Amino acid sequence: MAPWVRIRRLWRWAVVLCGVAALITIQLNALSAEYKKVASVMELQPPLLTFQELEQVEYLTLLPPYGLKYPQTINLNHEFLNESSTARSLFFPNSWYGILDPRNTKINATSHFFLPGKIWLDTAGNPIQAHGGGILFDKKSDTYFWYGEYKDGPTDQAQGTGTARVDVIGVGCYSSKDLWAWKFEGVVMAAEESDATHDLHKSKVLERPKVIYNEKTNKYVMWMHIDDATYNKAAVGVAVSSHPTGPFTYVRGVRPNGFDSRDMTVFKDEEDNGAAYLIYASLRNKEIHISRLIEDYTDVENVTVRALIGMHREAPAVFKHGGVYYMVTSGCSGWLPNEALVHEAEWMLGTWETIGNPCVGANKAYRAATFFSQGSFVLPMPGGGGDDRGLFIFMADRWNPANLRDSRYMWLPLTVKVRFERYKPIPLWSKVAIFWHERWRAPIKDNGETYYVSKPFMAGDDL
Ligand code: GAL
Repeated sequence: MAPWVRIRRLWRWAVVLCGVAALITIQLNALSAEYKKVASVMELQPPLLTFQELEQVEYLTLLPPYGLKYPQTINLNHEFLNESSTARSLFFPNSWYGILDPRNTKINATSHFFLPGKIWLDTAGNPIQAHGGGILFDKKSDTYFWYGEYKDGPTDQAQGTGTARVDVIGVGCYSSKDLWAWKFEGVVMAAEESDATHDLHKSKVLERPKVIYNEKTNKYVMWMHIDDATYNKAAVGVAVSSHPTGPFTYVRGVRPNGFDSRDMTVFKDEEDNGAAYLIYASLRNKEIHISRLIEDYTDVENVTVRALIGMHREAPAVFKHGGVYYMVTSGCSGWLPNEALVHEAEWMLGTWETIGNPCVGANKAYRAATFFSQGSFVLPMPGGGGDDRGLFIFMADRWNPANLRDSRYMWLPLTVKVRFERYKPIPLWSKVAIFWHERWRAPIKDNGETYYVSKPFMAGDDL
């Protein structure tokens, strides 16, 4: 074959091979674009997965404690009230039944499981004392601060007031980066020891403290329920500090616009220029009142909105999702648990409508008693979804009136689903649900990589 013929053949083959290579490159490019698309969708997956897992309905089958004569006839409400019942360990398990100890690296330091109702220790190994509390996320330090009633004293049953109480010690403060391991920062608003006329004298009542940050004054403002031991003073106290860890300086105690005020909370609307509100049970708990706070957050404006009139609700916990305001409340039965209700409004100072009992899972008795606890706060969860879906932590107390310092924390996932009217940001319906989980974890990023998800508890699992 003549050399020029060979060259022509080789040339043809080269052209064909180039064509094939070009085709392969085009295909690979297309594949890689597709892969990137899929990968970006997958990046969206973890929160969705989390929703699915947290919204799994988990039932609770209780094994009656050893020694109960007729376990099949056990009435949970009765056992909860009966302090000498052996079934009390179902509600107030001791460390034998598992404990949330962030120092225990072997068992759960990497798991970040919340264990509702179990003993919860701080990073120094002491039980957390932050009852009736609330959480502030401090943007400056990128840290969560949990404030609550520091009740680590003897419970006094003999006050003649009909209600168990602990002398006021003050407001406990804990800090955390992950909402799971909490470092004790001290009693940041302490009881007054000597002046018996002071609002915060140890013989009185200090409950449900909540802290919000005021951008204009650079102050951390604490609101709390203050009372005398008979709950007749029925007022709110205000304190301020330049630091989230205090010390807080007590400013004043007031009856907002002259109304009696018992269980209360404050809500700061980050989406509305930092407008903040005081929400409290009034007229001897017959209704909930809402007033906007003045610019520096240390008092209320003189408009009072009456909500849930005649419903006898207390323990309000307010949150916002997709432009709608929600409030979880309890009924009024002192330290004893009852059924929660959730309410919604399009405007804080507008009309509040009741949606219903948000509790899902466990069993009927648990759902009818807010899982044997009472709400205190609802915290937006990191990685919480879009306007039509929201993820929150419902914080509640399982009060132990026989020994108030041993009251337990019930943190559970709360989800909101909203269906909007097409083209209009008006919700057609919303569903708020609090899901029972024996153990679960929040979807927090770990080193910017992993999302934690819940895992239903299996008998025999390590905690
Ligand atoms: C509850 C209230 C608690 C505490 C208790 C005293 O109704 O929610 O915060 O005040 O009564 O009995």
